[in-house]
Formats: sequence, C-alpha cells, structure tokens
Amino acid sequence: MKKALFAGSFDPITCGHLDLINRASALCDTIVVGVVENKSKVPYFTVQERMDMIREATAHLNNVEVDSFSGLLADYVNSNGIQAVVRGLRATTDFEYEIQMAQMNDRLYDDGIETIFLMTTPEHSFISSSMIKEVFLLGGTVEGLVPDNVLKYMKEKREGKGGK
Ligand code: PNS
Repeated sequence: MKKALFAGSFDPITCGHLDLINRASALCDTIVVGVVENKSKVPYFTVQERMDMIREATAHLNNVEVDSFSGLLADYVNSNGIQAVVRGLRATTDFEYEIQMAQMNDRLYDDGIETIFLMTTPEHSFISSSMIKEVFLLGGTVEGLVPDNVLKYMKEKREGKGGK
C-alpha cells in the first residue's frame, strides 16, 4: 500500500491510537493521520493542538504525515491519492458502527474505498479518548494511557495554562 489514512477525532491521541499508527506505518509507504474537525462537538483540544500532539508523539516514525479535514472522509480519500482507510477494532461493540462506516464510505465512489481493520492490542482495548478525558477531569490517573507529551498538555490545559 502506498498511502493509507488513519482518521479520527484524536481528542486527544491515546496510546491505543499510537499503537495502531506504529503498526499501520509498517504496512504502507505513508500513513496519513487525519484529524477530523467535527463542528457539532465541543473539543477539549483545538485541531491545531491535536495535530501538534500527534506530530510529537509520532516523531520517531518517518512515514507519518499529519493533516486535518472537515466534511466527508470519502472526499478526502478520493482527492488525496489514498488507497485504504485504516481503523482499529477494540471489541465486538465497535464492529457494528465500523462496518456501517466502511460500507457507506465504499459506496460513495464508483471505485470504492477499502477499509482495513487492525485489532487493538489487549492492553489498549478499553481505552477511548472520551473515557480518558472523563477520568482525567474527575481527578483519576491516565498515566500510561496517553503519550507522555499528551499528558503534560492535558495537565496544563486543566490548570488553565492554555495547554498546547
Ligand atoms: O475517532 P472517531 O470519532 O471514532 O472517528 C470517526 C470519524 C471521524 C473517522 C468519522 O466520524 C468520519 O469519518 N467523519 C467524517 C465525516 C464522514 O465522512 N461521515 C460519514 C462516515 S460514513
């Protein structure tokens, strides 16, 4: 595969995401990490902050590009020469939503859009950005669940120092 897209909200990127990016980067020439701007959600981090954190956390990989987009994922795939979309599957509960998305994306273009699923490693299978934010904002520890740079920015943002 020449170019694959790993898209998501990444608010913020977690160790589960990072594990998938590491593994996907070994399967393709370039893996584009696409931060999707969802105007109907109030994010914890801005798109720019999320992109900066992803760039830092993936600095050890030389075939990762970080970008952002709004609108249809299928449009982004179609206009950026991307061969496949990579998604992570944690549990069977993810499957229903993921198959719907994969099939919808596939039918949006005559040439189709391929989605490749990577199984999350067991130690990351319970992690989600939303649960991490909830636990963190209620005072629980999320160390080891997000990359170290992300934890630092989460703490700064909580303490009102503006975060990233
Ligand atoms: O990290 P998430 O929230 O699980 O990622 C979901 C995401 C952003 C990949 C999905 O919502 C998406 O593709 N959004 C872009 C808009 C779009 O194309 N919607 C139709 C999907 S079939």
